[in-house]
Amino acid sequence: MNVKIVNQPLGQINADLSVEFVTPAQLETHPHTALLKQAGFKADLEQLCALHEHRLLVCGIDNNASDELYRSAMAAAIRSAMNYGYGTLKLAQYTQKSFKALIEGVLLGSYRFEAYKSEPKPSSLTEVIFSNENHDGSGNAIDELEAILKQTTIIAKATNFVRTLVNQTPDDMTPQQMAITADILAKNNNLECTILDVNGLEDEKMFAMLSVGRGSAHPPRLIHLAYKPENPKRVITLVGKGLTYDSGGLSLKAATSMVTMKMDKAGGCAVMGIIKAVSELNLDIEVHAFVGAVENMISGNAYKPDDVLRAKNGKTIEVRNTDAEGRLVLADVLGYAQEYVKADYLFDYATLTGACMVALGPYTTGVMGHNESLKQEWLSAADASGEYCGILPFNRHLKKLIKSDLADVCNVSSKPYGGAITAALFLDNFINEDMKEKWVHFDIAGSAYTESAWDVHTYGGTGAGVRMTLNWLMEQCK
Ligand code: BES
Ligand code: ZN
Ligand code: ZN
Repeated sequence: MNVKIVNQPLGQINADLSVEFVTPAQLETHPHTALLKQAGFKADLEQLCALHEHRLLVCGIDNNASDELYRSAMAAAIRSAMNYGYGTLKLAQYTQKSFKALIEGVLLGSYRFEAYKSEPKPSSLTEVIFSNENHDGSGNAIDELEAILKQTTIIAKATNFVRTLVNQTPDDMTPQQMAITADILAKNNNLECTILDVNGLEDEKMFAMLSVGRGSAHPPRLIHLAYKPENPKRVITLVGKGLTYDSGGLSLKAATSMVTMKMDKAGGCAVMGIIKAVSELNLDIEVHAFVGAVENMISGNAYKPDDVLRAKNGKTIEVRNTDAEGRLVLADVLGYAQEYVKADYLFDYATLTGACMVALGPYTTGVMGHNESLKQEWLSAADASGEYCGILPFNRHLKKLIKSDLADVCNVSSKPYGGAITAALFLDNFINEDMKEKWVHFDIAGSAYTESAWDVHTYGGTGAGVRMTLNWLMEQCK
């Protein structure tokens, strides 16, 4: 979808269709009140009514609606508009800050993934034109709106890039293919790219990650992308769980739980999308994105419950469940990342636990770490960006649940509650002392993927983590 902003009143813009947001109060004084009411339109939130003879699509919105409601309503409107035969659509400005939300609604809401359809059905709608005029007739400076459009488009496209990676099937997006994708991204966006294959991982003594991948026909890869501007204000390390498929391994998942596990690479995809956007926005921050790309499968050579693994930082791990594999991969990738990059902050993104969904619901990312004010910063960044985050608190009693009688730490908890937190406390074993206060873990198990549409998301990957991280990073540049 092409989005532009023009310095012209709405009435002078040529387009096939107008989209208008109408509150219940505005409905009473609308030029088409009778017609709309006759059609059953009450201006309920996201309720849509097309008056084709007037080339108008009205969408209900609350009085004093937040950005979030505009974003979601815009997504509903664009999806509906894409079903007609129109080619172009126009809109005015609404609240002061709604422009960003509306662009996101358009670009994220119009996303479709049809790579596996033999007959994809592209929409005839290809362009959305915004006027700098407000809905009430007052005007806005065009320069500021142009800057918002440029920035928001980069971030929304990076989000869609992540969605498309996540949506690829496990046979198409293998660890090798993820590495190839990273390499292409690096060439296009002028990033440094280092890939470690099995030999490289062995040289680095990354035996936790190697063990997880051992049962698979698709060998693991470690991906390191770096964006290095001159004189950066900060150095940030991002680490992503890139399980291209999680069958559970020998602790095999149940048939229904295994479906959707191609999304277990969403953390790795997210960090690739984030560094893509950072480089396109030319942010004054050095960013390193590390992905542990691995497939968790069964075979005669697969790792087993009862194995003891030695991670890169020397700690030993008792494996009691091969389905708690993400934390094993992250243990080594976190170790590698901290050895090779001295960063001001370390953030990891992982579809780590079903327990996170139980705790927070399927839309919210779990935020965990030792630094209270840093976690609060992330809640604000998420809120401002349109993502949902919730803090899951550590305590010293939960830490005891992953003690092992055999090794230094166990990969699963001895109690069935608080699984998102005990997983994060496992990762804590692989965070160096000097990084403890600089680390935040994001559990995106629920937020990264959806099988039913919500907000700006359709079926598939959501791109969780991208918008909130760009928001946080841009705050650092202020
Ligand atoms: N990838 C899963 C977590 C997950 C579950 C993500 C559902 C998205 C949706 C992870 O590797 C896993 O299997 N975790 C186990 C941990 C358990 C064995 C301690 C889980 O959540 O059941
Ligand atoms: Zn698993
Ligand atoms: Zn997993």
